[in-house]
Amino acid sequence: AVEEKTKIYELNREAAIFYYKNLHKRGAQALEYLSNKRGLSIETIKKFGLGYALNEWDALNKYLLKKGYNQSLIYKSGLVLQKKEKKGFYDRFRNRTIFPIFNTTGKVIGFGARAIGNEMPKYLNSPQTPVFNKSNNLFGLNIAKNEINDNKRIIVVEGYMDVISLYEKGIKNAVASLGTALTKGQGQLLKRYADKTYICYDSDVAGQTATLRGLDILTEVGCEVKVISLKGAKDPDELVKEHGKEAFIKYVNSALTLVEYKISLAKEKYNIKTTEGSIKFVQEITPILKNLKSPVEVDAYISKISSETGISRKAINKEFYGNNKEKN
Ligand code: CTP
Ligand code: MN
Ligand code: MN
Ligand code: MN
Ligand code: MN
Repeated sequence: AVEEKTKIYELNREAAIFYYKNLHKRGAQALEYLSNKRGLSIETIKKFGLGYALNEWDALNKYLLKKGYNQSLIYKSGLVLQKKEKKGFYDRFRNRTIFPIFNTTGKVIGFGARAIGNEMPKYLNSPQTPVFNKSNNLFGLNIAKNEINDNKRIIVVEGYMDVISLYEKGIKNAVASLGTALTKGQGQLLKRYADKTYICYDSDVAGQTATLRGLDILTEVGCEVKVISLKGAKDPDELVKEHGKEAFIKYVNSALTLVEYKISLAKEKYNIKTTEGSIKFVQEITPILKNLKSPVEVDAYISKISSETGISRKAINKEFYGNNKEKN
């Protein structure tokens, strides 16, 4: 099985080179998309090894066979699918921009593939294979790990294009959790390279839900974590493209702690101008204060919540300590 994995890594690398060459030789439309539509420079396109899957049924399969790989191995790499009635194989990715996914040792473990226009689905990805398990890898970590400076910060974003656009603008310490909400394996991987992590997911509801889960996972594995909460842009890619690097840096510098983020969500959810709203708000956020390290911090939050809602400090204190007797 070790032998087989080695062969699949090698095959994946051959495929990545094939896609890469085709982007520059026969992928005018894809190249135009990446540079004009997505604003990427040729240096960035090359740095990430982006490629193009030809608009043909089996260009890659044929190429890999010719290179001497056997059909069963090609199938195991996830790069081809089997035809109905099992008569032959065809390429999984066709007429798409290719994003090779590397592990931290620089091996090609899988691929993402984006439609060039508005075809659905927007993204296709390699399936789970003997060398690819997306819940234990982070897109871009192979590059980000060399760009993390003394303060050892990593920004976790949702997508391929978020990582690459940030890189284009000079923010080179971003990685993507490959669409899924962050897993524990990914959290542990981050912990190995970063002292501080920032979650910067899309500003839609899916992104918010994934942020909450990511916060819990990163806290659980022992990462220091903050949330970059974007307003007025749907994701980091759109933000840096429209408003530039400095705008993004401002968001990083005003990143919220877990407690601040959860309070901000509760504030959006309830109308604290009403009695009912302020009761629900206080009931929802007091348990969150358990995450604070010192009683001084707890007291400071309780003061603030009290003045915002008009509910007495004494009552909020009781709500908090009453439910947390074991902590005192
Ligand atoms: N994703 C996926 N399959 C999909 C949609 C999304 O695997 N059908 C993953 C991809 O890794 C993608 C990430 O989830 O990069 C984030 O998805 P989304 O926010 O929908 O896409 P964007 O990256 O913002 O897409 P783009 O900017 O290219 O339109
Ligand atoms: Mn999204
Ligand atoms: Mn805007
Ligand atoms: Mn997005
Ligand atoms: Mn996007």
